[in-house]
Amino acid sequence: MLLSATAATAETESLPLEIIRRRAEAQVAPASWAYLMASAGDGRSALRNRLAYESQALFPHLCRDASAVSTRTTVLGSEHEHPIVVAPMASHRLFHPSGEPGTAEGARRAGAVLTLSMESSVHWGEAGAERHWCQISPQRDRSVTEDLVRAAEESGAQAIVLTLDTPVSGMRYRQRAALPQMPEHIGRPMLQRAAQDWGAFTWPGLDWEAVAAIAEHARVPVLGKGVLRPADAERCVDAGLGGVIVSNHGGRNMDRLPAPLEVLPGIAEAIGTRALVMVDGGIRSGGDVLIALAHGAHAVMIGRPVLWGLAADGADGVEAVLAALRDELEQTMALCGVRRIEEIGADLLVADRPPEELGIGARRR
Ligand SMILES: Cc1cc2nc3c(=O)[nH]c(=O)nc-3n(C[C@H](O)[C@H](O)[C@H](O)COP(=O)(O)O)c2cc1C
Repeated sequence: MLLSATAATAETESLPLEIIRRRAEAQVAPASWAYLMASAGDGRSALRNRLAYESQALFPHLCRDASAVSTRTTVLGSEHEHPIVVAPMASHRLFHPSGEPGTAEGARRAGAVLTLSMESSVHWGEAGAERHWCQISPQRDRSVTEDLVRAAEESGAQAIVLTLDTPVSGMRYRQRAALPQMPEHIGRPMLQRAAQDWGAFTWPGLDWEAVAAIAEHARVPVLGKGVLRPADAERCVDAGLGGVIVSNHGGRNMDRLPAPLEVLPGIAEAIGTRALVMVDGGIRSGGDVLIALAHGAHAVMIGRPVLWGLAADGADGVEAVLAALRDELEQTMALCGVRRIEEIGADLLVADRPPEELGIGARRR
């Protein structure tokens, strides 16, 4: 679902990501597609993620010299061509034979960091990513988690993404019906290193003490993924994490969660000056990326659309998706009269402007 019925227009079909999504759907086995598109329960959280962006409107500045717009930015101390990172997603081989190495090649060409899931279908060190982060789900046995942290660092990961929002797995009924188990031929070497079955993979006992121990053990920055409450974002920083990913897991874990975009400003206000704040869930255009940054994110993560690209056309498709998002971001910045990522702020959001400033209710001359 790219746009909900509320906003679908005749133009929707010509959007770059929508064209790629349709090509991917035609090419991928129905069971794999059900896994890719899955959301929890009746899908309300995933729908709300999209609606949050659809209800936004931008408020451009005019005549501000848009001749030198740049999407370059700094994330965790290193320079990046743009603030768009590939979210951790399991089992890329399910969608294209090139798997994670294909995604890595597309991400490299598009100048994007790739986050490799703990459920990667290849060993982290064999994905061939130029710049990558690794996602880890904390394990009951601390030595297993520590082993994964070392494996991530040895693979060259520049950060670790710690998934905090999945102490038990989510209720994905349609996915479960279509793909009850991951097919045997899709390898999951990092998961197998940690646990023999899915039940052992999630850990209901996860607490802040365990999070702090992982941060203490790691030599690279650790980011907490799945944060929705400002108080939890503060706890992440107190536990020694370098930042958070504001996320509801793409609506795949729970019904009736707020959209990450809705809660982002409160989290940015709580920790944004001392830690990295990222957001994911429902970002489907460069305009959406700008809206996320205007709500206080320093950078964004993109999930499903990257796998649409991989499924549609391997590395070329991944590159096409990420390049479209970057190009649209640059164009939207120029049209809004902002030249640098750091200039993007809440002043660009119509919803945040008082009616007088929008000219609503002003007397006609
Ligand atoms: C097929 C698929 C697999 C995923 N696997 C993981 C995972 O292994 N670990 C994790 O933390 N998040 C996982 N996610 C969630 C994404 O990292 C991300 O939070 C979400 O997809 C963002 O929403 P979007 O798809 O609307 O962009 C997965 C998402 C998808 C679509």
